[in-house]
Amino acid sequence: MKNTVNIEWDKLGFSYIKTDYRYVSYWKEDSWDNGKLTSDNTLTISEGSPCLHYGQQCFEGLKAYRTREGKILIFRPDQNAKRMIKSCQRLFMPEVPEAKFIDACIQVVKANADWVPPYGTGATLYLRPLVIGVGDNIGVSPAKEYIFTVFCIPVGPYFKGGMTPLNFSVSDYDRAAPKGTGAAKVGGNYAASLYPHELARKEGYADCIYLDPATHTKIEEVGAANFFGITKDNKFVTPISDSILPSITKYSLLYVAKEYLGMETEERDIYIDKLDELVEAGACGTAAVISPIGSITYKGKKHVFHSLTEVGPITRKLYDTLVGIQFGDVKAPEGWMVEVK
Ligand code: PLP
Ligand code: COI
Repeated sequence: MKNTVNIEWDKLGFSYIKTDYRYVSYWKEDSWDNGKLTSDNTLTISEGSPCLHYGQQCFEGLKAYRTREGKILIFRPDQNAKRMIKSCQRLFMPEVPEAKFIDACIQVVKANADWVPPYGTGATLYLRPLVIGVGDNIGVSPAKEYIFTVFCIPVGPYFKGGMTPLNFSVSDYDRAAPKGTGAAKVGGNYAASLYPHELARKEGYADCIYLDPATHTKIEEVGAANFFGITKDNKFVTPISDSILPSITKYSLLYVAKEYLGMETEERDIYIDKLDELVEAGACGTAAVISPIGSITYKGKKHVFHSLTEVGPITRKLYDTLVGIQFGDVKAPEGWMVEVK
C-alpha cells in the first residue's frame, strides 16, 4: 500500500488532523448497534448529556504502524479493549465488548490506510476510541444512551524533541484520589491535570510528575504517561499504585526489559526523596512512547539523571527494542501485533 496523502510525515507533532473516516456506534435500549464508518467528524448530542455535565465518559489511545514491507500493524488492541471495559465499569457505562472494540479499530485503520505514515518517518497512526454518556438528563444519574466512536490521526512525538531528555517538576496538586478514578482512563483525570501542567510549562518544564495522593512521598506518574527508572544495579523499576493508569507501554516494557534485555524488573514504591537510586528515568505511554527524563526538580532541588542532553544507554535499548517490535523489525511476543489486511 502506498500513501497518497500529502503530509510532511517526519515533521508531525501531536495535533488533531481530520482524517477520512471514523467509526460510530450507538447504545440505545440496552444494546450496541452494529456501528458504521462515517466521514462526518462531528457528533450531535443533547445539551443534557451526562458526559458534558458529570464527566461520564472514557477513552483509549493506541497506535498503528507501517512496517518496512508496507504492512500495517496495530499494537496490542486487546489490552486497550480490556482497559476500556474497566473504565466503563468504573463510570457505570455499558462495556464495549473486546471483539467490537478491535473490529472498530481495524475498520478505522483500513478505511484510513492512506493516513498510516510511511515506514522510516518515525510517525504513526494514533487511534482514539471513546465512550460518552448522552441523551436528555439533568440529575446526577447515568446516561440512558451512549456513543462509542473511534477516530484516528497521524502523529509524531508527543513531547517536543522526541528522544531528547526532558525536565520535569513535581506538582503540589493531585490528578486522582486514592480509590478515585486514577486507574481508569477518564476525562476528569486529565481535566484535573491541565492547570498543574500549565504551571509546570510556565516554569519551563515539559510537564509535572504527580506524587501519590495519600502521602505525597512516592512517584505516581506523569499527566499523560507512566514513570520508570533504572537503578544503579540495572533493575527496571516502575511505581505500583491503584491510582495510576495501568499503562500498556509500561507492562510491555516490563516484559521487554526482562525477556529481551535480561534485566530484573520490579513494580514497587519509588520515593521522591530517593532519586539517587536511579541512574536513568523515563516517561512511557502510547503517545509519549519513551521520553527520557533528564531531571526532576523537587522542592527547589534539581536532580539530574543520566544526562540533560543525552539518552541513557538502557533507555535507548528499551526504546529501540519496543519500537522495533512495533514497526515489525524485531520479533514480537505472540499476539502483540495485529495485522490489518
Ligand atoms: N498514564 C496516563 C495518565 C496516560 O494518559 C497514559 C496514556 O495512555 C499512560 C499512563 C500510558 O498508558 P499507555 O501505555 O497504555 O498508553
Ligand atoms: C496516550 O498515550 O494514549 C494518551 O492518552 C496520552 C495523552 C495524549 C492523553
